[in-house]
Amino acid sequence: MINTMEGLQRTHFCGVLSPAEAGQEITVMGWVQRRRDHGGLIFIDLRDRSGLVQVVFSPDTAPDIFHDAEKVRGEYVLAVKGYVRRRPEGTENPNLKTGEVEVVAQDLRILNTAKTPPFYIEDGIDVDENLRLRYRYLDLRRPEMRNALELRHKAAKAVRDFLDQKGFWEIETPMLTKSTPEGARDYLVPSRVHPGSFYALPQSPQLFKQILMVSGVERYFQIVRCFRDEDLRADRQPEFTQIDMEISFVTVDDVIRISEEMIQHVYRQTTGEELNIPFPRLTHAEAWERYGSDKPDIRYGMELSDISDIARHCKFKVFRAAVENGGRVKGICVPDGAKFSRKEIDDLTVFAINQGAKGLAYLLLTSEGIKSPIAKFFTEGELQAIIDRLKGQTGDLLLFVADSDDTVGTTLGRLREHLARKLDLVPHNTNKFVWIVDFPLLEYDPEEKRYVALHHPFTAPKESDLPKLASDPGSVKSKAYDLVLNGVEIGGGSIRIHRRDIQEKVFAAIGISEQEAREKFGFLLDAFEYGTPPHGGIAFGFDRLVMLLARCNTIRDVIAFPKTQSATDLMTHAPGPVDAKQLKELHIKTTI
Ligand code: AMO
Ligand code: AMP
Repeated sequence: MINTMEGLQRTHFCGVLSPAEAGQEITVMGWVQRRRDHGGLIFIDLRDRSGLVQVVFSPDTAPDIFHDAEKVRGEYVLAVKGYVRRRPEGTENPNLKTGEVEVVAQDLRILNTAKTPPFYIEDGIDVDENLRLRYRYLDLRRPEMRNALELRHKAAKAVRDFLDQKGFWEIETPMLTKSTPEGARDYLVPSRVHPGSFYALPQSPQLFKQILMVSGVERYFQIVRCFRDEDLRADRQPEFTQIDMEISFVTVDDVIRISEEMIQHVYRQTTGEELNIPFPRLTHAEAWERYGSDKPDIRYGMELSDISDIARHCKFKVFRAAVENGGRVKGICVPDGAKFSRKEIDDLTVFAINQGAKGLAYLLLTSEGIKSPIAKFFTEGELQAIIDRLKGQTGDLLLFVADSDDTVGTTLGRLREHLARKLDLVPHNTNKFVWIVDFPLLEYDPEEKRYVALHHPFTAPKESDLPKLASDPGSVKSKAYDLVLNGVEIGGGSIRIHRRDIQEKVFAAIGISEQEAREKFGFLLDAFEYGTPPHGGIAFGFDRLVMLLARCNTIRDVIAFPKTQSATDLMTHAPGPVDAKQLKELHIKTTI
């Protein structure tokens, strides 16, 4: 029953046929989307990468193949030779790109049969993602997945074209390498020839790209796979792709400008959207103050307001005590929130407590006046000052958290995102980019009881802050920047340290001894002794960028073969056990 395609050559893709081809003899090949038997005629929707076309089989025009057409089932692979004709009036399908035409079959070859797939090969199916991942080859046949793959290809091509034009060279760096300091756990690969030694898969090409600057490459990029063994989320995968760049003789503004031009080019070449550049910038301190986040979604308002000055003198002990203990009181104004039920407010309180707050104070600004269990602790003047500060209007709900700066910001920042989603305040058809700049160089790690680098230890401090490196390390700002799109961090980088004396001061500030630095990155420090140019760069999360271009909710939908939240591949069943012989060769004994 299975035929060969001998003697037939595909002339057209299914999804491109139009009245312009009417009358032409053509050959199409693809998969059966659907077969319908209709009053002596058989209709088959044939699908390939480009889309669908309707093929008609009639016992009058092609009696020998009619019987074969009756045997065809979903996902069979066919070759059909025939001619294109306009569909009879009234039978056009405006929902189909090729809906004005059909192919009248004259020859049919069944190239392969297929089992019944476990789900429909169409968009918007309601099936468990695990089933889709197990049968990924079928999932990828669905138009939305196929479109995502194509978009990803186009985005990568746009990046390459743009950077090539700007004089960047794409250079590959090793996958079997040493640990890079990006802050996640490494994936390790045991060495057979060096018993007990391991390669690390790169968390990023950071050290190699800096070395390439020492090598005089000047403009490097790579669309590169990175590996990080960290807790997974919707926008995190254990292996993911970066657009990694490094440039010599540049300042923060230079890296930002070329990044903006690249992103603008990618949008132009993929979705066609024309982005306005330059993108706005927020300092890290401002982002924290106004949004309680270092990756704020600025598509909507509900910004945080500080009322610590009012709280300091009020009679509500919780507020006053927080300020007296060096903490703060801040609030957000929820538009139309006064309509929330008691239960909804209780749920918000639980949400706030889950983020680390001790409670959630509120004022309902109803048309009958202020309703709040805490209003009695405030004078009229204080209440008015608070409402004015938050720009509250009748109908709004004001929410407050009193605590340490950290807890107040985190809680209200997350509450803001939660409420924007709950109240549907997020405009879905806009893209809001924002650079976050002036990050602190270091942050205090209470567990290790020392400062650690916020980005990585090669990030340059701002020159003006250098004198504070020893005296007040926490206040030193760096030349690091992140690009945030709609509340998602899509890229980050920095100008690097290229002077040995400054590098030593930074290592000292984070408590890395000369010996430890030598052990970890001796090769980089050696290279730095031979004329290192000032340099800097950035890496974009390519999967995240494509996810946002495709308006998907998870990066899994723009990766051909992604892993689950528990880092497994449901199709290949990786990771899996290996032979005892293999382990022996690698000098490895497992402990379970
Ligand atoms: P960073 O660690 O910020 O910087 O990574 C750059 C970008 O990569 C993306 N990203 C991820 N995407 C998917 N899954 C993950 N697990 C994941 N982790 C990170 C993010 C992030 O903004 N070497 C530096 C760059 C530099 O300084 O030039 C680096 O890797 O979008
Ligand atoms: P209490 O005085 O503990 O009954 O709290 C009165 C109100 O203040 C309740 O709505 C609590 O949820 C809220 N509350 C308690 N602690 C805090 C806090 N640290 N920040 C904001 N609100 C709080």
